[in-house]
Amino acid sequence: MTMPDIAFEITYCIFSEEIYYISIGVKEMEIIDCICETHIGLERQGPGSPEMTIKALSFLDNLNTISRAVDFGCGTGGQTMTLAQNINGNITGVDLFPDFINAFNDNSKKLNLEKRVNGIVGSMDNIHFQKDEFDLIWSEGAIDNIGFEKGLTCWNGFLKKNGYVAVTCPSWLTDEQPAEVEKFWVDAGSGLDTIGYNISIMQKIGYGFVAAFTLPESCWTDNYFTPRAKAEKALLEKHTGDKTVDAFIENNKYEVELYSKYKQHYGYVFYIGKKI
Ligand SMILES: C[S@@+](CC[C@H](N)C(=O)[O-])C[C@H]1O[C@@H](n2cnc3c(N)ncnc32)[C@H](O)[C@@H]1O
Repeated sequence: MTMPDIAFEITYCIFSEEIYYISIGVKEMEIIDCICETHIGLERQGPGSPEMTIKALSFLDNLNTISRAVDFGCGTGGQTMTLAQNINGNITGVDLFPDFINAFNDNSKKLNLEKRVNGIVGSMDNIHFQKDEFDLIWSEGAIDNIGFEKGLTCWNGFLKKNGYVAVTCPSWLTDEQPAEVEKFWVDAGSGLDTIGYNISIMQKIGYGFVAAFTLPESCWTDNYFTPRAKAEKALLEKHTGDKTVDAFIENNKYEVELYSKYKQHYGYVFYIGKKI
């Protein structure tokens, strides 16, 4: 290597992003890091509320007989802890992100629930429980990651006869289905279906229909978008100039605008079924 080449190498190394990040000890952000960093400190990681969790529970009879429940896509456990405070049995939370599960288990300890509420890392479409292990399968804001039909089909074998399934899933609320909303949810990895279609899917898989209701707007705004916006501000301040962070925040802003513009057409719906 000649002298000018060496000079170029050094200059390149000093200014290349990789070396910059190594030298100052800052990890290059990926979208997954942005999601974890903004969501880990939130009460919940998606739209919902303790009131709606309790409302869904009110459709289940014989709550005292629930000895084993699982919460798929539990996040840090906001809804799981509400569940645990309203049923007697043991609950296993399952989530893909180890950081969320660590926070989940910390939250369980803080509430003295650790003897019967435990989080484990796993994927909800590739996890092994015993046949007929559970009396109740719960999942808020997560089933759309693998698809409503696939999720309910995967989990059916783990549920006892007469056991309940209760899940929230983003759904169309009107016959008019704006293309902009459709595109956003398809790009996010899941499309939207109507409430009637999802109920027919539940019935086809082998669940008797118990109830379906739509989450109110406050579950999106007060309980999710507002606290998330605070966490986004902190993320932006910490990672000023990071293009991945900027893109992540832009996409979140767009999600909020879309919801504000089209909220009469779509929303999260709680679906409750009983295994036949
Ligand atoms: C919108 S958040 C909802 C979290 C929580 N249930 C709530 O309502 O606050 C979706 C959660 O599903 C988890 N998730 C996504 N795909 C998953 C998978 N294949 N297996 C397990 N968890 C998954 C995410 O890590 C995230 O915690």
